[in-house]
Amino acid sequence: MAGYPTVRPRRLRRTPAMRRLVVETHVEPSNLILPMFVKEGLTEPRPISSLPGVVQHSRESLRKAAVEAVQAGVGGIMLFGVPTSRDPQGSAGTDPDGILNVAIRDLAAEVGDATVIMSDLCLDEFTSHGHCGLLAADGTVDNDATLEAYATMAVAQASAGAHVLGPSGMMDGQVGVVRRALDEAGFTEVAQLAYAAKYASAFYGPFREAVESALVGDRKSYQQDPGNLREALREVALDIAEGADMVMVKPALPYLDVLTKVAAAVDVPVAAYQVSGEYAMVEAAVANGWLDRDRVILETLTSIRRAGAQLILTYWAVDAARLLRA
Ligand code: PBG
Repeated sequence: MAGYPTVRPRRLRRTPAMRRLVVETHVEPSNLILPMFVKEGLTEPRPISSLPGVVQHSRESLRKAAVEAVQAGVGGIMLFGVPTSRDPQGSAGTDPDGILNVAIRDLAAEVGDATVIMSDLCLDEFTSHGHCGLLAADGTVDNDATLEAYATMAVAQASAGAHVLGPSGMMDGQVGVVRRALDEAGFTEVAQLAYAAKYASAFYGPFREAVESALVGDRKSYQQDPGNLREALREVALDIAEGADMVMVKPALPYLDVLTKVAAAVDVPVAAYQVSGEYAMVEAAVANGWLDRDRVILETLTSIRRAGAQLILTYWAVDAARLLRA
């Protein structure tokens, strides 16, 4: 019959079995990393209004939730600490008895080698001004003074039992300085997941509530401009040269093109961070009855994987792991 197609892609979409046979992209629970927040002094977990379903944990509830996450099969946990008091130096971040370091110790004792314990290595949760680094007298963020604080923080986190450190402050040279500090302190086996291409994004809004960030102003003098792609490749190359074991692109969904280019350019594992604003957008639409939650979660994760991320940090890690196993 002239005019009818002989090539019919629909043949391979006919049945669930056929579709399963030819699917190109798989998401596994082990690809997913759960970001968790722990707040000093809490006795009960406290909800975060702009991140429905996510909480600030107490030390006790963190341990329980970590066990559940491990049982659900997630690949790792990325821990953030929220201190009760802040100062310009971010002392609570470098203090071995600061909330983040104490909670890393809790996790190491509770779930230890059953998962990969990662910790955010940045000062913004701990500084009274909310910046990711220390301020110079003129109010700008002082790159090299900040590096010294990161080195101290890195050794504190590694001593507490973190397997992977996630330097996220976008200071020049941070990965190299952290590597040297770790090696000199005998932590040659502690790895770094570098927040290599991290953009100055409006999608971090709910995270600022989660960590009660005091930031006035913005992070544009250290985080990347959303319009830049070549710069992301440069940042990634520098971090790998400095010793990054894995690199991250952040945020995820609005930066899938960056992710694809980064994944093509490097031979280390590539991660993407599906950030708080990405989560909040979907949850808000779901709450209005406008989106099918489970399908949208899996579609976003599949898209991020397809674009080139081997690992995905997502607040849905446990939910998604359960959906994938169902
Ligand atoms: C910095 C850090 C931030 C996020 C992760 N690490 C905040 C920022 O850079 O402004 C944001 C994560 C999210 O929005 O989910 N410590």
